[in-house]
Amino acid sequence: MASSSPFVFILLVLSPFLFSLTSQVYAQGAPAPAPKGPANLTGILDKAGQFTTLIRLLTSTQISNQIKNQLNSSDQGLTVLAPTDNAFNNLKAGTLNDLNTQEQVELILYHVLPKFYSVADLLSVSNPVRTQATGQDGGQFGLNFTSSANQVNVSSGIVTTQLNNALSKDFPLAVYQVDKVLLPLDIFGPKPPKSSPSPSSPGDDKPKKAPAATSGPSASKDTDASGSIAMNVGLSGMLVLIGSMCIGLF
Ligand SMILES: *[C@@H]1O[C@H](CO)[C@@H](O)[C@H](O)[C@H]1NC(C)=O
Ligand SMILES: *[C@@H]1O[C@H](CO)[C@@H](O)[C@H](O)[C@H]1NC(C)=O
Ligand SMILES: *[C@@H]1O[C@H](CO)[C@@H](O)[C@H](O)[C@H]1NC(C)=O
Ligand SMILES: *[C@@H]1O[C@H](CO)[C@@H](O)[C@H](O)[C@H]1NC(C)=O
Repeated sequence: MASSSPFVFILLVLSPFLFSLTSQVYAQGAPAPAPKGPANLTGILDKAGQFTTLIRLLTSTQISNQIKNQLNSSDQGLTVLAPTDNAFNNLKAGTLNDLNTQEQVELILYHVLPKFYSVADLLSVSNPVRTQATGQDGGQFGLNFTSSANQVNVSSGIVTTQLNNALSKDFPLAVYQVDKVLLPLDIFGPKPPKSSPSPSSPGDDKPKKAPAATSGPSASKDTDASGSIAMNVGLSGMLVLIGSMCIGLF
């Protein structure tokens, strides 16, 4: 009897805490995708056909792996604006080949939004919308969405096109076909004014690549990934905590 009262006391003291922990875990677990296997972007594109260039770029830049991991670990989901093979073919000759690897990564990440947007979401989203290519300073890597009726247009500032059919519209992955490649201002926009060309950096013989050569996108990619990891650790930490509490209590 004497030994049971401290336990009762501990239980009474801890129960609101335990309750809030379990409800938190429950709330975080709630939006988890249905148990039908992870969303497979390249699989979706492959099945739809006419996206071979995009698939090739997603694979060669390793972005498909990054997306796979993000879909598995983020509770925000993702949205991909998928340019068709025609869209890539209609680019001015050499456009892709003139980009260095870093710029190709940025171009592809510019078509990925770090959040799941349904068409309804896009009809009322506030501009500009952040993309995965957005560096820490925001930069010129946003997209603007406009809509009338149920038609949504997307603009990079250089290219405007409409969102066509949804190849995937179930959380966590939305994929919309676009018939133009969205060229980001940061890479394809007007060159920065000549106020400070390259007086202090003689080795930089190609100033046009300077703005795109920042480590912004990869940096944001890294923080996103580690953020998700931290979240996972937090979640499993809570589970361990609850588990050990239960063992302690019973
Ligand atoms: C995703 O789809 C691609 C292409 O269909 C396939 O090769 C790959 O094995 C799939 N991955 C998973 C995890 O299902
Ligand atoms: C998803 O993440 C969990 C744990 O974070 C891991 O065990 C699982 O293998 C991952 N699944 C895929 C398809 O990457
Ligand atoms: C979307 O773009 C098309 C042409 O591409 C244009 O006719 C239409 O007015 C635009 N709609 C909106 C809402 O911007
Ligand atoms: C988006 O719209 C804002 C405000 O109209 C404008 O300042 C910005 O340059 C636009 N960005 C793009 C990528 O079109």
